[in-house]
Amino acid sequence: MGMKKILLLNGPSLGLLGTREPKIYGSTTLADIVGMVRRAAAAKGVTVDAFQSDVEGELVAAVVKAKGAYDGIILNPAAYTHESVALHDAILASEVPTVEIHISNVYAREGYRHASLTASACVGQICGFGPKGYLLALTALLER
Ligand code: DQA
Repeated sequence: MGMKKILLLNGPSLGLLGTREPKIYGSTTLADIVGMVRRAAAAKGVTVDAFQSDVEGELVAAVVKAKGAYDGIILNPAAYTHESVALHDAILASEVPTVEIHISNVYAREGYRHASLTASACVGQICGFGPKGYLLALTALLER
């Protein structure tokens, strides 16, 4: 029982973290974030597989394939948050507990970022705490 394997999924343009709009997203790279989550998980005996894609269908496929293979998903769907019924449905179909995370506080930004189509399929959402949000998402998954 318990969490053993977690999938860390990042959506479009998050591969450019570190140089992408640093005033909003900071200077931490995606590799830094993956390393940080891996180390924190390893300390609890949990392994993390990480995948980033700019392609909605690849993210959907990763979520669907996670069924039975992962105990939890940490997901930053990036812009697909605000438009993807497919990702919402994949999260429900996979039945893998998923925590949605956003680096920025989407509710303090443009109106089109205020609605998340994916959050209602997730066990919860963490947003606005910068890259540390990924660690909060890990803690949330491990302690629920
Ligand atoms: C984001 C917020 C989204 O609105 C945006 O499209 C992103 C990143 C975040 O982590 O703050 O690409 O998910």
